[in-house]
Amino acid sequence: MKKQKLAIVGLGKMGEAIAQGLMSGSLSDDYQISGTTRTEESAKEAKSRLKIHCTTDNSEAFNEADIILLSVKPHQVEKILRANASRIHERQLLISICAAISTEQLSEWSGGKAAIVRAMPNTPCLIKSGVTAICSGPRCEKSHLKTAEKIFGELGLVSVLEESLFDGVTGLSGCGPAYVYLMIESLSEAGVKVGISRKQATLLAAQTMMGAAKMVLDREEHPAALKDEVTTPAGCTIDGLMALEEGKLRVTLIKAVLAATKRSKLMRG
Ligand SMILES: NC(=O)c1ccc[n+]([C@@H]2O[C@H](COP(=O)([O-])OP(=O)(O)OC[C@H]3O[C@@H](n4cnc5c(N)ncnc54)[C@H](OP(=O)(O)O)[C@@H]3O)[C@@H](O)[C@H]2O)c1
Repeated sequence: MKKQKLAIVGLGKMGEAIAQGLMSGSLSDDYQISGTTRTEESAKEAKSRLKIHCTTDNSEAFNEADIILLSVKPHQVEKILRANASRIHERQLLISICAAISTEQLSEWSGGKAAIVRAMPNTPCLIKSGVTAICSGPRCEKSHLKTAEKIFGELGLVSVLEESLFDGVTGLSGCGPAYVYLMIESLSEAGVKVGISRKQATLLAAQTMMGAAKMVLDREEHPAALKDEVTTPAGCTIDGLMALEEGKLRVTLIKAVLAATKRSKLMRG
């Protein structure tokens, strides 16, 4: 099968994670990956790390690619797409991971010919344990969405959602790693308080967080049912849970997601 040409415009942190994920996974024979950056220096560095064609020439990328994956900062998107709109044609798929840029904007700025998919990955994609929400935009057919699912599936789990929910996705899974780091840090502090070394306390906290998350995903049970399973009558866990309820952990987490969702909406203007 002929390899599809996939150009990553903006081979920065996320762009590089996607390139690495694709090159080291089951899709390594499916795509011929290239990339672009703004500066020669970044292009040179990315080229030597990834061993792929990387330049500062976006016109070449837009002319030749079957799939363009846009991974520049949001404020750079309009200028890049408008400058290359005349090169973008109807057989191309344009996937954007740029926060707060809608599929309508992507379509308008790119000249209205390519199929559009919007995606919102999170940073654990860097270690193939991320989650990416994707949605279809103008001219996106099932095959295009399947391609996006395949690409982001190499970096973790994929969830197809309505675009209207993307601010909420940003507030939940986009910002979520930061909330979890804070919880791990707090549990680790508690470990230190009860006499465990910081290194071991962090290991215990992080692995507990990962194990519990894996139980939810693997067993596909309601988290409350799993919580009940570990809560022995008159045992230790119920005392811990009571302290969390007293500290309003539940409502605090809900408020955190709502606050980040609101900010994401405001950033869109
Ligand atoms: N980081 C996250 O957690 C995360 C999660 C979900 C979505 N996103 C989205 O992913 C996008 C990229 O984020 P990032 O963290 O990977 O940013 P980043 O590390 O700063 O990477 C941006 C890349 O874009 C390149 N670039 C800038 N202008 C360009 C141009 N005119 N032509 C070609 N390349 C250009 C930069 O090159 P130079 O180095 O030469 O300037 C750099 O390689 C953002 O839109 C963000 O909203 C990020």
